[in-house]
Amino acid sequence: MPTSTPVSGTPFIGGRFARVDGPLKVSGRAEYSSDFNFPGLLHAVPVCATIAAGRITRIDTHRARGMPGVHEVFTRSNIGPLHRVPEHNHGRMIIDEHRPPLEDDVIRYWGQYVALVVADTFEQATAAARRVEVDYQSHAPDVRMHMQAQGKLDVDSTRGDTDAAFARAPVTVDQTYTTPIETHNPIELHASVATWDGHSFTLYETTQSIMNHRRVMAAMLGVPVERMRIVMKFLGSGFGGKLWPWPHALLAAAAARNLRRPVKLVVSRKMMFEDVGHRPNTQQRMRLGADRDGRLLTLQQDYLCHAARNEDNKEPCGEATPFLYSTPNLRVTGGVVRRDIAPSTAMRGPGAVPGLFAVESAMDELAVTLGMDPVALRLRNEPKIDESRNVPFSSRHMTECLTEGAKKFGWHQRNPTVGSMRGDDNSVLGWGMASCAWMAARLPAQVAVELDADNAARLTCATQDIGTGTYTVLAQLVAEYTGIPLDRITVEIGDSKLPPGPLSGGSMVTASVIPATRQAAEAALRQVLQVSTQHGAVFAGASLDDLRVEGGRVYRKGAAGPGRTLGSILADAHLERVTGKGSSGSSDQDADADKLSFHSYGAHFVEVRWQPRIARLRVHRVVTVIDGGRIINARTARNQIEGAIVMGLGMALFEATEYDDRNGAPINSNLADYLVASHADQPHLDITFLDHPDFALNPLGARGVGEIGLAGVAPAIANAVYHATGVRVRELPIRIEDLLASRVTA
Ligand code: MOS
Repeated sequence: MPTSTPVSGTPFIGGRFARVDGPLKVSGRAEYSSDFNFPGLLHAVPVCATIAAGRITRIDTHRARGMPGVHEVFTRSNIGPLHRVPEHNHGRMIIDEHRPPLEDDVIRYWGQYVALVVADTFEQATAAARRVEVDYQSHAPDVRMHMQAQGKLDVDSTRGDTDAAFARAPVTVDQTYTTPIETHNPIELHASVATWDGHSFTLYETTQSIMNHRRVMAAMLGVPVERMRIVMKFLGSGFGGKLWPWPHALLAAAAARNLRRPVKLVVSRKMMFEDVGHRPNTQQRMRLGADRDGRLLTLQQDYLCHAARNEDNKEPCGEATPFLYSTPNLRVTGGVVRRDIAPSTAMRGPGAVPGLFAVESAMDELAVTLGMDPVALRLRNEPKIDESRNVPFSSRHMTECLTEGAKKFGWHQRNPTVGSMRGDDNSVLGWGMASCAWMAARLPAQVAVELDADNAARLTCATQDIGTGTYTVLAQLVAEYTGIPLDRITVEIGDSKLPPGPLSGGSMVTASVIPATRQAAEAALRQVLQVSTQHGAVFAGASLDDLRVEGGRVYRKGAAGPGRTLGSILADAHLERVTGKGSSGSSDQDADADKLSFHSYGAHFVEVRWQPRIARLRVHRVVTVIDGGRIINARTARNQIEGAIVMGLGMALFEATEYDDRNGAPINSNLADYLVASHADQPHLDITFLDHPDFALNPLGARGVGEIGLAGVAPAIANAVYHATGVRVRELPIRIEDLLASRVTA
């Protein structure tokens, strides 16, 4: 395995840099998509189906049209043409709900848009939407959570013979784990502000991918892509829910075109549960076999998840399974089970997050069965190569994550006997842990870097900051490669007219933009050097090799003196600015792409405190060690892992979207009934980054940290809960009702 040693930070890489967009955000000047307003702006409110399965038999918009301020009520009969994206488009146009809104009269899920009211004010549109009369012919919806395989499952990964190995294994675990439907609940609601000038659209959208959004919206609205501009300056988080376009965006754009007025549509919190995706529920049977020393002989994961009637999105629960442990026999299969539920989508760490709940819970059960320490079990099964592809890892430090985490946590003091440990508050302590992994890759990126005569720099790229710190990281990269200080660097992103950049998904942006930014900065510097060697210029006659750039100044090699700033060289030549362009491809186009296995790794150690007499469970502290490549900004990176751990606490203990079996409606579709972790739930967090650069991925060796922090948290908590209470919860979320079965007493 190629190994690497930690590198120390340069002035602009690795430190704890404050967000360059922080002042805009805390002063309320950052413009989120729904903050854009234009003269003549109208407000749109959708009418949502009140059945989950059936068809519309009649829509009467007469009364709604007569309400004050109403400009139009759109239904299938007057919305105008909306097209589908081609089925095979090589991933250029990704959308989860392929059916354009209002395409037919069939209702496939509760809350599906059936009409759109547009009025002068939001209140008028809301009032009129209630007056749209819709009759349905409905049939009983099927929203059952329990799943049985429908047809053959897809084989995601396979090696050896799992059936034979399982039959022969001296120690086995065979259990089924389930995770519920979860709904993304970013603070910012999905929103679209659509403008149409008779020729072109400009759409202000809540999107994690302005470039994909542009292609999809152009295709579905039937305009050339050149006449489609997408703007997204700030996002109040997305968690995957805002990766791909949703029907409200098409409705807003179609209304703007039909009415020739700007139209704003902000979905309600209730619609967030119905119309913009969710993480599907999963049901995973795990079969593990080991020898008595804890060496894995076989690992099998067979998973099912819900899918909508007309979409195939699958939660790929085996995302992290095939390479996590060494085992000669492995098989991962998966399939979807149809329900009358809206299309699902990616949610932070899709696949790996629910998948690792099953894998890492089953590993803990195996450790208990073996009478072996769970950290030792994982160390014993640490693979030397990615056995699913027979290639080395680009950079894997899982062993260090485990040993460092155990040390920081004080794991050696753990008494493995259930319910045997007590906290200083006399609560029962439960100590549990889990490993985690997440993909690493680069997407294609184009970047431009301008240097100007004022000694300032500007980077442009059609990527976006979804709250993760992309503005800041890009500014740091420009500073790193030009020497121009951070406060003289402008980052302009979030606009599809800029050089095409990567989508904000899969934790890939930082790794993706590094090579292109370096190339662009170097191209701009080279132009300045060329200017400086022109006839009459400061280094006239010198060759570029005679010069060096350091700290934003140009020096003649070997010569003393203060050098010259980049800006003054341009000013002397009467040049306002020079622009360098950079472009890099996706990592799977790299020459040695299939020779290495790229992932990030980590380990979580959790202490829960259980008070049996009042059935109170608290997650008290979490120690997390992440091997995410080189960290570019220690502050924004830590912020990602902190948020992910708190989200994982919600996944373990609170989050589940509940459906009413009678009518198919998500019934806890609000933030009072859908519980997420709050400040009061926050445990003490101890987060460490190993900071080993992964130079096979990009010149700085950065991978990504947006999603890895959520993977493994829920099983680490469930494993700690078992250690405290003796109750093994295999169905998330863990509820107090489950723990009442505990025989542990205080
Ligand atoms: Mo992430 S689920 O790729 O936004």
